[in-house]
Amino acid sequence: MRLDEAGLRQWGHRIGRLVDTPVALCLEGALGAGKSVLARAIGEGAGVEEPMPSPSFNLLFRYPMRDRDGELLHLDLYRLDRAEELWELGWEEAGAEGQIVVVEWPERAGTLLPRDRWLIQLASVPDEPALRDVAVTRVGSPPELPAFPMRVS
Ligand SMILES: Nc1ncnc2c1ncn2[C@@H]1O[C@H](COP(=O)(O)OP(=O)(O)O)[C@@H](O)[C@H]1O
Ligand SMILES: [Mg+2]
Repeated sequence: MRLDEAGLRQWGHRIGRLVDTPVALCLEGALGAGKSVLARAIGEGAGVEEPMPSPSFNLLFRYPMRDRDGELLHLDLYRLDRAEELWELGWEEAGAEGQIVVVEWPERAGTLLPRDRWLIQLASVPDEPALRDVAVTRVGSPPELPAFPMRVS
């Protein structure tokens, strides 16, 4: 699916509002692909009321959700040197009841990712700076994701 930023945000909102928990969403893509845009839209949809800064140095931020029980975990593992460092972040709690876990740079986590997860790959489109190709792959048996928005660019 090819989406502009508004379309990607709309889909993210819908995920945040509707997806069953616990759920893990792994966002892959180069720098500037739109991983944080999608993560924030998921947060907004779930009722995260604070701004969601990039967790590039803290690696993990947790947020209460106004509209749902549980919390949203936002990770950015770009600067993770060894997968084992995840344990120092409180990783063993990830996937607890009610959680929406959004992971940027999940590749860095090696084999420590939750067994049931969605892999969402964002890629730029040649000559179309406002569009992204979005590929969604189910790994194991995560809860269903809402459909893409109808508006297609
Ligand atoms: N279709 C699109 N989807 C997402 N972001 C887009 C899109 N088109 C342009 N952009 C821009 O690309 C940038 C993506 O930044 P960001 O989400 O921080 O990337 P990442 O977290 O993957 O490094 C933003 O400046 C955003 O405005
Ligand atoms: Mg980012």
